[in-house]
Amino acid sequence: AQLAVHQSAWEGPKDALAKDIAACTRCPLHCNATQAVPGEGPMDADLMIVGEQPGDQEDLSGRPFVGPAGQLFDQIAGWAGLARDKAFVTNAVKHFKFTPRGKRRLHQRPNASEIQHCRWWLDAEIAQVKPKLILGMGATAAEGLTGRRDAITARRGTVEQTPSGTPVLLTLHPSYLLRLPDPQAKADATAQFQDDLTAAVRMLA
Ligand code: URA
Repeated sequence: AQLAVHQSAWEGPKDALAKDIAACTRCPLHCNATQAVPGEGPMDADLMIVGEQPGDQEDLSGRPFVGPAGQLFDQIAGWAGLARDKAFVTNAVKHFKFTPRGKRRLHQRPNASEIQHCRWWLDAEIAQVKPKLILGMGATAAEGLTGRRDAITARRGTVEQTPSGTPVLLTLHPSYLLRLPDPQAKADATAQFQDDLTAAVRMLA
């Protein structure tokens, strides 16, 4: 019985890293966010999916991609045959950055310094999971993963690398699809996003 107690109290490396992320004060974003949102998923996943930062619902729940962007991602991933539960899902920045507007909290894009500070954790997650492929969604993920800040629209569908040599397939961010007002532009971007997810599935087959 003592052994069982011991085992249940044992913290795997996943819990240890998530706890370290939860305690992070490396940049000022921790001051206003509810909590840090570490990555989640199998620690031996072949695919790592990286977004920008937690949104309102992720900040409250402590889990990545559970809000509208996550729901759109899940829908298009289903069309592309990409199993999210087999991937490790995380963000380039672990705390929600926002400005209060009445009762709402409006998303703000992380700046270069915040992305740079949070690279510490993203690199630690990559080192732990050792994915064969990373899907980087949006400009912030691209910057955190590759160090390059150039626009994502020109880079999507292409494969770059992390400094340690992991391939990074770049794509659009699902929130970008949600924000596009023009129905045709939205349909085109959605098709591109689906193509990129299909490419990720094929690269791992
Ligand atoms: N957008 C992101 O980039 N990540 C999340 O976890 C949710 C929304």
